[in-house]
Amino acid sequence: AKAQGASGSRFDFTEVEAGVDETHHVAEGYDADVLLRWGDGIFPDAPEFDPTAQTPDAQNRQFGYNNDYVGYVPIDDSSEHGLLVVNHEYTNDHLMFPGIVKVEDGKLVVAEADENQVNVEMAAHGGSVVEIRKEDGKWRVVKDGAKNRRITAETEMELTGPAAGDPRIQTNADPTGRKVFGTFNNCAGGVTPWGTYVMAEENFHGYFMGELPADHREARNYERYGVPDGTYAWGKFHNRFDVSKEPNEPNRFGWIVEVDVEDPNSVPKKRTAMGRFKHEGAESIVNKDGRVVFYLGDDERFDYVYKFVTAGTYNPDDRAANMDLLAEGTLYVAKFAEDGTMEWLPLTFGEGPLTAENGFESQADVLIETRRAADLLEATPMDRPEDIQPNGSNGRVYVMLTNNTKREEPNPANPRVDNAFGHIIEIAEDDEDFAATTGKWEILLKCGDPSVAAVGATFSTETTKNGWFGMPDNCEIDAEGRLWVATDGMSPKKTGRTDGLFAVDTEGEARGTSKLFFRVPIGAEMCGPLLLPDMQTAFVAVQHPADGGEDWEGFGRPSYYEDPSTRWPDFKEDMPVRPSLIAITKQGGGKIA
Ligand code: FEO
Ligand code: CA
Ligand code: CA
Ligand code: CA
Repeated sequence: AKAQGASGSRFDFTEVEAGVDETHHVAEGYDADVLLRWGDGIFPDAPEFDPTAQTPDAQNRQFGYNNDYVGYVPIDDSSEHGLLVVNHEYTNDHLMFPGIVKVEDGKLVVAEADENQVNVEMAAHGGSVVEIRKEDGKWRVVKDGAKNRRITAETEMELTGPAAGDPRIQTNADPTGRKVFGTFNNCAGGVTPWGTYVMAEENFHGYFMGELPADHREARNYERYGVPDGTYAWGKFHNRFDVSKEPNEPNRFGWIVEVDVEDPNSVPKKRTAMGRFKHEGAESIVNKDGRVVFYLGDDERFDYVYKFVTAGTYNPDDRAANMDLLAEGTLYVAKFAEDGTMEWLPLTFGEGPLTAENGFESQADVLIETRRAADLLEATPMDRPEDIQPNGSNGRVYVMLTNNTKREEPNPANPRVDNAFGHIIEIAEDDEDFAATTGKWEILLKCGDPSVAAVGATFSTETTKNGWFGMPDNCEIDAEGRLWVATDGMSPKKTGRTDGLFAVDTEGEARGTSKLFFRVPIGAEMCGPLLLPDMQTAFVAVQHPADGGEDWEGFGRPSYYEDPSTRWPDFKEDMPVRPSLIAITKQGGGKIA
């Protein structure tokens, strides 16, 4: 039955009721099954998960922490057999490690991680490649899949493109400036048209500690990125994360990483041509002229929206011919104008202000300091650009802007001061040419509770009290061109609801109507999402369940390993809460409608 009567809505499911509790909820008539949990083995020899005695060696053979981006590379074009690729964005010590927390005056005091814990964290970051297969309507992991792979903060990678080998990227351990170990804080991502897995390096600043040597040439560069930040203790045990010992190491992070999933021994490539910033994601589309266009968000308050256009063209008949498409191309940053037009400004050395006068001696310099280059081009400062998804079926591009409570000065594309709930911009590139340098834009949605006039939300009147959302983050366009939005940060205390996955109409009279399809347990954030090409499976990633559980009136207490606000998904006393990947299918089969 169709519970909501949204005129012309392209979504038929019965909406979930918004709320807060210990578990997840999916629309009636659908199953949401746990497929992979933090610590689940993804190789035949993986040790059983023992949360009280976790080791880096075990973690290297197990699914990592805080699953975020979810992609799928089909095997033989199947929507029932393929390689699942999943980012493991970051780790939450207080929920991972027994005994690391003390509660003092109702506040958590988290001890600094010890060497074993640091090494477990490093192994729990990165990504997983896992063969999966659907049998009798249910997904299972193929543990002996020949291409199964863990990528971690220690996996050997190659720097490619204009900044590779640059002196600013050379270190004591790597005088070539081309060989780097690991990736971390991989947030959203993408799968390329040629079937490689792209991982975006987002908040890399948190992994560096120490003080740069006095008058070091990277001081201005690092200040723009907030390096070092010292959230993680990695630098205590690994010199490369201490900028006083290895001052150039931060220049080797903040890139897009491309992984050839067909060869589990392939060396992942950091693609410097795509710029260095707090990369949120990298979703792409083959343009009508064959070049491939990637949309890239830089997730920080007042940072920018970018796109990258490959120099070469995609060859659908020869996978090998595409394997270095990301080594060369043009990076652009967006400037939005009041009249609804926009420009994409090239970040090209020697053009405009990107010259020696401003401290740029080469394209490598422009890329290493992408943000400063974009500042000089006077790009539009945005309200935290997250995932950006092109839609081949209507020629548009959807930009998630999650929030910005520090905004005091509005600009055309970010019209709300103190923007607590974020908004979504829809871009129409001129002539439906995704490589165009001009386009048009409008705001699809200002998010937040439409029943509170001061919020100024613009959901359609068909949107129910369950269907509105704030803080759009990851998003997806399904095979029928429909938009799905995952949220990050709806406060149970303030909104009476957890994060979730929302179906958003973009066409016709129903435009701006949103419905809640799935919601996460308390303390969690909604990631993924991905609908497979046959539309019969949706994968979603539940990140950090139980984190910040004190923010729900129903608990009113801190939440940590020994006393979490939920023990999702196992609900066993001897098992901590575990970030997990969920497969959603329709009961009895059929499309997600
Ligand atoms: Fe990892 Fe921008 O969220
Ligand atoms: Ca995100
Ligand atoms: Ca996406
Ligand atoms: Ca997120």
